[in-house]
Amino acid sequence: MIVSLIEEAEATNWYEQRLSVEKDKTAKAIMENAQSEEFKHFGMDLEFLLRKKPKWKKVLQGICFRKVI
Ligand SMILES: [Fe+2]
Repeated sequence: MIVSLIEEAEATNWYEQRLSVEKDKTAKAIMENAQSEEFKHFGMDLEFLLRKKPKWKKVLQGICFRKVI
């Protein structure tokens, strides 16, 4: 699952790179939609790992989704 998490991050980055150079609005919209699917996949993989790895969960709870001061 860790490798899957890495692959989802890579896919997100590939879309990020392609989006940065794409000029066609329709193509861009399609790729943005596809990239948002990769965000979901990344999130599902991470959630799975956090449920299986209490140490990871504890560390990330101190980092993610905190109010920025
Ligand atoms: Fe994916």
